Amino acid sequence: MDYLEYYTLEEHPFSNVVDSRFYFNNTQHAEALMKLKYAIDTRKGLAVVIGNIGAGKTTLARKMLEELDEEHYEAALLVIIHSSVSSEWLFKKFAIQLGVRNVSDNKIELLGEIYKRLHEINDEGKRAVVLMDEVQMLNSREIMEEFRGLLNMETADGKMVNFVFFGLPDLEQVLSLDEPLKQRVAIRIRLNAYSEENTLDYIRHRMSVAGCDREIFTDSAVSMIYKYSNGIPRLINTICDNALLEGFLFKNPTIDESIIRTVAIDLGLEG
Ligand SMILES: Nc1ncnc2c1ncn2[C@@H]1O[C@H](COP(=O)(O)OP(=O)(O)OP(=O)(O)O)[C@@H](O)[C@H]1O
Ligand SMILES: [Mg+2]
Repeated sequence: MDYLEYYTLEEHPFSNVVDSRFYFNNTQHAEALMKLKYAIDTRKGLAVVIGNIGAGKTTLARKMLEELDEEHYEAALLVIIHSSVSSEWLFKKFAIQLGVRNVSDNKIELLGEIYKRLHEINDEGKRAVVLMDEVQMLNSREIMEEFRGLLNMETADGKMVNFVFFGLPDLEQVLSLDEPLKQRVAIRIRLNAYSEENTLDYIRHRMSVAGCDREIFTDSAVSMIYKYSNGIPRLINTICDNALLEGFLFKNPTIDESIIRTVAIDLGLEG
């Protein structure tokens, strides 16, 4: 038994899994999407999205990928999984995702194949897009220089490949490893935490998608959630999920500020 039935919800509204059905198109994310789309459509080459932990970078990257239809874009999303990936690994992944058929083990050949494939994509009138998440992990001058090499490939219309790097604020230092690459950043987006008003809209939105349009969270509860989460969506989710559970256990039809305070203390967010 959990809180779903009690609050007439069809599913859990505050799961921390990135799920596009729950995507909340706040002004910030909407603007970011527009700018990134513009950067790609005008073949600007390199765009960067920087945000703190839990601010919504991966969510934005997934949304972006969804929006790039196959007819006009050859798009891929690469996630850097640890800090010691080699440039060979990266370029191989990159080649496979872009649809290179025979991926060579030899780096020079591999780069040649990527180059050929990028030409094909451009000849088909499509734009090649590589979205990369957790790029702050690529703490390597060599890799940054190689990205620059790829960004030097141009047609009369602009860059042959568009990169969008998503990462934590440390990404700035990583880009600084290669100053000419840093200079090539055509669009830079910063994802900030939500305002209190956004926090309220976000909570309403997620509750509504999950099937509940009643106001379960009181206004003062929302203010408290904002205070404890600092407007970071992942923390808002965790607080709200715990609050609904707590509210259900104590049979509270609405969630008030005392529940939020209890939950925040339990989660170690107090102070
Ligand atoms: N625009 C949004 N719409 C709906 N949910 C969102 C949105 N932004 C963030 N979230 C929620 O917040 C959680 C954290 O977001 P996300 O994983 O995108 O952050 P992140 O910036 O990639 O974090 P990290 O730095 O830890 O990788 C997600 O699981 C999602 O539930
Ligand atoms: Mg992420």
